[in-house]
Amino acid sequence: MIIFEDVSLYYGEKIILDGLSFEARFYEKIAILGKSGAGKTTILKLILGLSRPDRGRILIDGVDITTLKESQLREFRMKFSIVFQEGALFDSLNVRENVAFCLREYTNLTEDEIQKRVVELLKRVGVEEAVDLMPEQLSGGMQRRVAIARSLAACEPLMFLYDEPTTGLDPITADSICTLMNELSSGQPPDRKGLIVVTHKVTDAVKVAERFLYLSNGRLSFDGDLEQLKNTEDQELRHFIYDILQG
Ligand SMILES: Nc1ncnc2c1ncn2[C@@H]1O[C@H](COP(=O)(O)OP(=O)(O)OP(=O)(O)O)[C@@H](O)[C@H]1O
Ligand SMILES: [Mg+2]
Repeated sequence: MIIFEDVSLYYGEKIILDGLSFEARFYEKIAILGKSGAGKTTILKLILGLSRPDRGRILIDGVDITTLKESQLREFRMKFSIVFQEGALFDSLNVRENVAFCLREYTNLTEDEIQKRVVELLKRVGVEEAVDLMPEQLSGGMQRRVAIARSLAACEPLMFLYDEPTTGLDPITADSICTLMNELSSGQPPDRKGLIVVTHKVTDAVKVAERFLYLSNGRLSFDGDLEQLKNTEDQELRHFIYDILQG
């Protein structure tokens, strides 16, 4: 379970998160919505211990990770699979090497086992034919799939974290990424592996998430399910979700 307790974070004088509190179970499927610059990516970085808050506690399975050393954080990072939007792949490595990288880094598998696992992972995300291609030879959708395969390589996560996984993709390709995300998080709570997706694409968020958080002025001004989201009276949020209020 993830618990944010009164978390505040500043960049210089600027307050980004202002006493943010929420709880999430690993099997939940959550979308964090918010305008550009609201602090969505910052929340994912805090969960992974890549960034530290100025105030408040972040508990992962009861342990406050804000006080841990880098070497102790590793165990907690292993619980998550993260797909960052930017810098998703290493440009100078082909697809095989991109996926193998984490296996070499984080596991003791033999070279044969690594090669087998790479092909398995690429099959799982539906891009095994791209194994010998370079990132620049892939379409945007294929790059996201390879990035997901790579995030699966190091560990079997308890929860998936996705940062803008469908931004910049056409609607059909974006839809296929949503389908893949749902496949990876299939099953019923409490056994399934949940997800937190950070996005400003509300139409994609509703395809994968069951709970919606809206981040505004460093706090969550909304936390509820789809029905509650559609009925919100918060004018800023209504404006933000305009695309799903039609029809
Ligand atoms: N390393 C940093 N140094 C200074 N300011 C930063 C840093 N990282 C983020 N910020 C600022 O913190 C705010 C929140 O950034 P964050 O990346 O979390 O926003 P976001 O909600 O993910 O936005 P977007 O939708 O554009 O990705 C922004 O105003 C950003 O400029
Ligand atoms: Mg962001």
